[in-house]
Amino acid sequence: MSVAGAAQPDATAIGRAVDVLAAGDVIGLPTETVYGLAADAGRPDAVERIYRIKGRPPDHPLIVHVHDATVAARWGRWRREADDRAERLARALWPGPLTLVLPRAPAAPAWACAGQPTIALRVPSHPVAKAVLAAALARGIDGLAIPSANRFGRVSPTRAAHVRDDLAADVPMILDGGDCEVGIESTIVDLSGPVTRVLRPGAITAAQIDAALAADATLPATSAPVVPAAGADVPRVPGSLRSHYAPITRLTLCPPERLAAELVTRLATGARLAVWSRRRPEVEGDVALVWRQCPDDPVVFAHELYDAMRSLDALHCDGIVVEQPPDSPQWAGINDRLGRASDGSVDRLY
Ligand code: TXA
Ligand code: MG
Repeated sequence: MSVAGAAQPDATAIGRAVDVLAAGDVIGLPTETVYGLAADAGRPDAVERIYRIKGRPPDHPLIVHVHDATVAARWGRWRREADDRAERLARALWPGPLTLVLPRAPAAPAWACAGQPTIALRVPSHPVAKAVLAAALARGIDGLAIPSANRFGRVSPTRAAHVRDDLAADVPMILDGGDCEVGIESTIVDLSGPVTRVLRPGAITAAQIDAALAADATLPATSAPVVPAAGADVPRVPGSLRSHYAPITRLTLCPPERLAAELVTRLATGARLAVWSRRRPEVEGDVALVWRQCPDDPVVFAHELYDAMRSLDALHCDGIVVEQPPDSPQWAGINDRLGRASDGSVDRLY
């Protein structure tokens, strides 16, 4: 395995990465959300390699990453009659941490999306991902399947070192583009039916999606209200099982007002606990407690979340206790990931 670029990979490294992709192999690369494991979406053998390396069930579709909206229209049915939602969202929010689910274009191969009639598409903004997509496109590779570069069900990577830790043995090349700015996976919006649905919350909020759909609306009928990710009527997204992001150590989410009492009870059993909270909890005899401060700001929190989960996990305590963040729209993506990682009462699929 080679690791290119401590700072930013240069054109030579990008060229070598595309050589690997053109040979049907995979690379690790940074995006603005999390690090991904990329392969030529047009090749069944390359896509199959991703599933094998990740240990991902074959019915869990991948996101096809493309250079721009024009290329996206080759993979998904971009504009259907008066429905211009994809165009509006792409114009306002691409490149960026937003994935659009559309009906699959007739020419797009079924293996890129686990045989589903729909396809998930994203144009990432990270300069390294953009450079790889541009160089690949110049060599006739017009879409890269890029799931997060972790084994199935583990914590997503936000640094090149995380990818190395998890996948070095199976990945011939990892491009190092520094820490991922956003830190949690893209917001996924389903546009395949008449109602716009958020399937996975992320840094782009439902309000931003609403605003982009409403802007200069010439076709108000298409800007249906955005349905947030919750509730029994939301389709089950394969790959969104709640254990998907779980660390190895059991993680408990605890409301701030109950944190001290929870710790006292658990420490009394002789447990050693890792705690991630805004302020150091005041508990007596806290020798068996390793405390790390979590950020107050949701943008910073998301940026640090997966690295914190990994390093808290690495302490090999008996449990990880995380202070539950506020229940407000800016925290939706974070609360979703924490809920899935925890053993708490959040028990839903979407
Ligand atoms: O930020 C991201 O989206 C990252 C970076 C690497 O771009 N990628 C990522 O991919 O999170 P992955 O494979 O870890 O998650 C893909 C999610 C899964 O929950 C999958 O079920 C959903 O996208 N998905 C893919 N195709 C879909 C489809 N046709 N309909 C509904 N959901 C789909
Ligand atoms: Mg993933």
